[in-house]
Amino acid sequence: MAQTTKDIRIIFGSESGGGELTAEDIAESLPQGFHARVESMADVDVSTLTDGAFLFVICSTYGEGELPMGAQPFHEALTSARPDLTGLRYAVLGRGDKSYLKTFAQGSAIIDSMLTELGAERLGEICHHDASDWSIGDEFAVEWAGGIIEGLIMEKVPS
Ligand SMILES: Cc1cc2nc3c(=O)[nH]c(=O)nc-3n(C[C@H](O)[C@H](O)[C@H](O)COP(=O)(O)O)c2cc1C
Repeated sequence: MAQTTKDIRIIFGSESGGGELTAEDIAESLPQGFHARVESMADVDVSTLTDGAFLFVICSTYGEGELPMGAQPFHEALTSARPDLTGLRYAVLGRGDKSYLKTFAQGSAIIDSMLTELGAERLGEICHHDASDWSIGDEFAVEWAGGIIEGLIMEKVPS
């Protein structure tokens, strides 16, 4: 199905719940006319990823650079089913903590590599949220998502 910019799917892979709150904040901030679905990665049927929605991926990191529990079933499903994700476009917000010097935000990098390997296309660079940086405001993720949405809207403007 052709991708529309109005249908937005926001999936989160989290362990302590921060990613879910961020996903909900982004959903609530979308401009009129956009329709958002928020889902835990654990509930995503990977065969539906190319259903036409633009995908926001929010993923944290646990252990030593590993996926949070909430993202593990999603990664396992992608690894075993290997769906063709050609046509899927997505953006990634990696949640981590820079005091983990060597493994900062590795969880989001793992999901990003898998999506790219399966044919999906990332819009922009991975955006990182650093939990150790107290200067980062509550609006950080909403502002980032707003920039992505603006880009999608611009694509619709004829030159
Ligand atoms: C036990 C533990 C291990 C963690 N390991 C890492 C890590 O290796 N790299 C990293 O960037 N952040 C690590 N973090 C930080 C979390 O990713 C960060 O707090 C994040 O904001 C949590 O998001 P969430 O609430 O959506 O799960 C770790 C946190 C905990 C509690």
